[in-house]
Amino acid sequence: MRILAFESSCDETSVAIVSDNKILSNIISSQYFHSKYGGVVPELASRAHLKIIYQLTQMALEEAKLEIEEIDAFAVTTEPGLIGSLIVGSNFAKGLALKYNKPIVPVNHIEGHIFSGMINNDACEFPFINLVVSGGHTAIFLVKSFEEYSIIGLTRDDAAGEAFDKIAKLMGLEYPGGPLIDKLSKQGDPKKFNFPRSMMHSPDYDFSFSGLKTSVRYFIQKEFPDGLPAVVMPDMAASVQSAIVDVLVHKSLSAAREYKVKHIVVSGGVSANSQLREQMQTEAKASGFEAFAPSMGFCMDNAAMIGFIAEKKLLNQTKNDFRCLTFRVNASSLRSQRNSPGKFGFHY
Ligand code: KG4
Ligand code: ZN
Repeated sequence: MRILAFESSCDETSVAIVSDNKILSNIISSQYFHSKYGGVVPELASRAHLKIIYQLTQMALEEAKLEIEEIDAFAVTTEPGLIGSLIVGSNFAKGLALKYNKPIVPVNHIEGHIFSGMINNDACEFPFINLVVSGGHTAIFLVKSFEEYSIIGLTRDDAAGEAFDKIAKLMGLEYPGGPLIDKLSKQGDPKKFNFPRSMMHSPDYDFSFSGLKTSVRYFIQKEFPDGLPAVVMPDMAASVQSAIVDVLVHKSLSAAREYKVKHIVVSGGVSANSQLREQMQTEAKASGFEAFAPSMGFCMDNAAMIGFIAEKKLLNQTKNDFRCLTFRVNASSLRSQRNSPGKFGFHY
């Protein structure tokens, strides 16, 4: 089966082709122009998706050496995300499904991230603990199969990526600051400044990162009222990064212990963080677990992860289940789904 998948929930436009678990192409275009506004501007994001999605589709087909007529089904991210951006990908995919008379699978973006650690990786087995860490979400899932998974922890305020980006802004760095903090940290001392590890030892799997952001703000105002000198930047970055990573790793390992699973998967944009990848792997191994993270192209928002899980859905249900073109996009976040009964995910 050959699936043409689309992802446009935030500031990456991506088109991928997935066939029998293999990624034939995964084209990603990032909207770097948002950096001058200090964050993603929703209206500009949707316009940029619209401008490039057709071209990226041609590139994805070319790279996979396929014609559009050879595609068996379409898949698209329909929730959660920026409403205008979701509409662009979703309507483009619906148009193709209508024209070529093929099924279309609506996919939850987080569902894509949850299973992205299994792409090109046969070693990862169910059940596993999944830490999804991105700019918009931070959550821990207990994943039992492609169909059954539940939220066991959630951030109560900022997402981990949001914390990286907001703290980077306080440090005078550009958006998105996560990768810049990662880079600076390599030359810094993570023990130089002691920032709070909020909720690290709370008896649940929830997170809170807004206290860290406030603590960094007060620290900079008090110690460096004229701005952070360049010489302090690496130590600041390393200390902030450690405060975030320590909590993420500690909670993931505690969840693996309580739910008695062997494997831990960390995914989402922040899973590109070098300390998180390394520390998760080292500490997991020391405690008898095995940790996985997707390869870099599958950490950030990408359509390959959308096509990957869409293929599982198509195989598990009849193709006629995906003939509906009236499904809507939904911008609401994970928080609203936490207490919904039954399985988490897109309901048909
Ligand atoms: O998954 P993603 O591409 O988009 C969302 O769904 O939000 O994640 C983007 C987030 C941004 O907050 C960005 O700063 C963060 O991932 N990020 C990183 C790194 N690379 C991306 N954070 C820390 N270290 C990195 N190397
Ligand atoms: Zn994402």
